[in-house]
Amino acid sequence: MTSGPKSAAWAGSTPIRSDVRPVVGTSAKTLSPTEASAFVAANTGLIAPPHVPEIVLHLADEAHALWLKTEDELEAIGLQPPFWAFAWAGGQGLARHLLDHPGIVAGKTVLDFATGSGLVAIAARKAGAAAVVAADIDPFCRAAVALNATANDVEIAFDDRDLIGLDEGWQVVLAGDVFYDRALAERLSCWLGRLSARGALVLVGDPGRSYLPRALLTEIATYQVPVTRALEDAEVKRTTVWRFD
Ligand SMILES: C[S@@+](CC[C@H](N)C(=O)[O-])C[C@H]1O[C@@H](n2cnc3c(N)ncnc32)[C@H](O)[C@@H]1O
Repeated sequence: MTSGPKSAAWAGSTPIRSDVRPVVGTSAKTLSPTEASAFVAANTGLIAPPHVPEIVLHLADEAHALWLKTEDELEAIGLQPPFWAFAWAGGQGLARHLLDHPGIVAGKTVLDFATGSGLVAIAARKAGAAAVVAADIDPFCRAAVALNATANDVEIAFDDRDLIGLDEGWQVVLAGDVFYDRALAERLSCWLGRLSARGALVLVGDPGRSYLPRALLTEIATYQVPVTRALEDAEVKRTTVWRFD
């Protein structure tokens, strides 16, 4: 049974680049936008996710020390695991689906919930969405999404609120790789179900995370997504795009 992404997989001992001063020894919540941007740029490289080669993202790889920190080491310097520095299997599958089926979002208002790097939001915009809001509560995501939107020449709005329970009338709601935590999954299932019931198209990309609410979902498409072995204990994850009913 596949569980969640391995947030403790940042194993190793190489320090994060200490020349990017503002992050070390301070809470990520106090970062200025410039400091957050500098940190993202300094600790990532511009890389195309393997299943979505049309898009480039600032991602961590073996060349960057961010990749090597353990979760405890990150916490000690005021950082959460950098989910925004990876293109998760669920997001890659969902982004692939949008690019291959642009009619799903063309001309529509779109929310990419839990956007991380912004991958799914960028795919939606490239597929012709009228407007896209990327939402995430991680303090680095605004900077990561802004850098990644610029790298792909698209406009993406960003919302750092926890939107669960809110409804701003989005026509399409997208969520890549969000069912890795029980409490989050329970909140999400109710909210996404309500958005679907009032007429939004709600699509989820998921590689078999533990808390996926399968009984509420209809399978739309499956993809074999190359992933990072250190994070997933696999080279490829079978990833499904599901629709909330
Ligand atoms: C596994 S990552 C997936 C990122 C991206 N969707 C992808 O597929 O590459 C999960 C993301 O969920 C975000 N997240 C968790 N709880 C959230 C909440 N209540 N509101 C918004 N984002 C949340 C995390 O900050 C993280 O960026």
